[in-house]
Amino acid sequence: MIMLISFLAMAITLILPLFLYAFYQTLNLKTPAFTNWPFVGMLPTLLWNVSRIHDFQVQMLKSKGGTVEFLGPWFTKMKAVITADPENVHYIMSKSFDNFVKGDLFREMFQAFGEGIFTTDSIQWKYHRNLLQYLFNRSFESFQEKIIHNKVEKSLIPLLNHVVQQKDSVVDLQDVFNRFTFDNICLIILGQDPNCLSIDFPEVAVEKAFNQAEESIFYRHIVPECVWRLQKWLQIGQEKKMTEACKIFDNFLYDCIASKREELKEKCNKNVDTEKNQHVDLLTALIREEEGERKDSKSGDKFLRDSAFNLFVAGRDTLTSALTWLFYLIATHPLVETNILKEIKENFGQKEKPWILSVDETKKLVYLHGAICEALRLFPPIPFERKEAVKEDILPSGHHVYPNKMILFSLYAMGRFEDTWGKDCMEFKPERWISERGANVYVPSYKFFSFNAGPRTCLGKDSSFIQIKMIAVAILCNYRVILEEGHIPSLSHSIVLFMKNGLKVRIAKR
Ligand code: HEM
Repeated sequence: MIMLISFLAMAITLILPLFLYAFYQTLNLKTPAFTNWPFVGMLPTLLWNVSRIHDFQVQMLKSKGGTVEFLGPWFTKMKAVITADPENVHYIMSKSFDNFVKGDLFREMFQAFGEGIFTTDSIQWKYHRNLLQYLFNRSFESFQEKIIHNKVEKSLIPLLNHVVQQKDSVVDLQDVFNRFTFDNICLIILGQDPNCLSIDFPEVAVEKAFNQAEESIFYRHIVPECVWRLQKWLQIGQEKKMTEACKIFDNFLYDCIASKREELKEKCNKNVDTEKNQHVDLLTALIREEEGERKDSKSGDKFLRDSAFNLFVAGRDTLTSALTWLFYLIATHPLVETNILKEIKENFGQKEKPWILSVDETKKLVYLHGAICEALRLFPPIPFERKEAVKEDILPSGHHVYPNKMILFSLYAMGRFEDTWGKDCMEFKPERWISERGANVYVPSYKFFSFNAGPRTCLGKDSSFIQIKMIAVAILCNYRVILEEGHIPSLSHSIVLFMKNGLKVRIAKR
């Protein structure tokens, strides 16, 4: 009976909007604003605008003062408050932090993340957070610096040189960044290099599987719960793809865990110095934690798998997205490019090729820092976040929230609000982030929300700026990146803001 109701719900949800859409098209009418239709609620409007969902949200939120109520079909639990209001963000993320959680439905929708730092709440989350804070220490910074240095020198530069030699060849820079960050995160977490970034552009199934899972999770946000649950049960559409992707990266992660355990056992049997004082990959560090360096250590392959998966998404896809949009914006703003190069020359005029900076050197680049902040403001790698209330409450905007009512934050819309950023909010202006004294301007995290705010602020914020600067400087000083004529970028449908068809460019030597 439940299956039948779910099936009918799915049919109505998918078919009715199509009828309404055809009706509007036939009469040549404009598609309606956020109309609450009988029975189907506001879902048709959402589905009509799904191809431009982020810009649609900006438009809706601007017209409603920063927060809107969304009501789904009558028979579903699809109810949400969508907000881009900094006061609401401040209230939920910091002032009333304990009353707002990710919740059980979030964990189900983000099932691929398991019980990792992104999906857990209260004590479990605190455990993950403390553990990662302890692992991301100073020696981790230099370990990461070495990895990036090597990757840039041994893989990125040879690959781009190869592209330059193939006269007139067009390359997808987003794919290049994806490969770079995949190798990088494998080295950081697993201590092994899959060499995805090489001139033959090898197909790596697990790299694609992560992206597929992220797309399928996004899809779970735009259809009623009963629809994706039915699809999951029937194993069709996006849900089938999700299951296949999960199998691929689970096999990959569990194999890595098994071989790492084996490797550490062998080292231990042979009495090889296990480099306790040197920095090691995060998986080794987590396995050592199991051996009891901390009293409350958690253990088991599932714990390691979940921790590794969360770090893969946190530390990889966000960087790919940030680099892709940064390079798109620089390629379309030649004056900004000139200013970045000028700043590099002023600071390190005598530096020899191949222009790979150290961590300390990256900290001198104030203008480049501003350009990165601008890219992250206009194109936040995580375009939306969600929470729900433990006890009912009224938000500063006056909206009522209660358990099971989704609160969605549009980070994408927040970066495009005049009230926060001024009349020129749609322009790419690194100068916005530089004070009269020439230092970077501080903007509170509940306004510049791209790295989250409050106790759950991103743990990789500083490291992200370092990595992006190292990669950006190495590319900009060695090459000119020219946007392929006619290439129009569009936003992906995923929980990470990629470019839908990649970033097609030509590369020339500088
Ligand atoms: C440009 C790059 C990055 C951006 C824009 C970014 C953004 C974010 C955002 C928005 C969140 C909150 C997500 C949520 O709760 O739903 C977050 C959390 C997190 N980020 Fe990042 N991130 C970036 C890079 C990194 C890197 C390189 C790492 C380190 C490997 C990292 C580690 C984390 C962790 C561990 C959390 C969970 C924090 C918690 O819940 O306590 N991030 N990040």
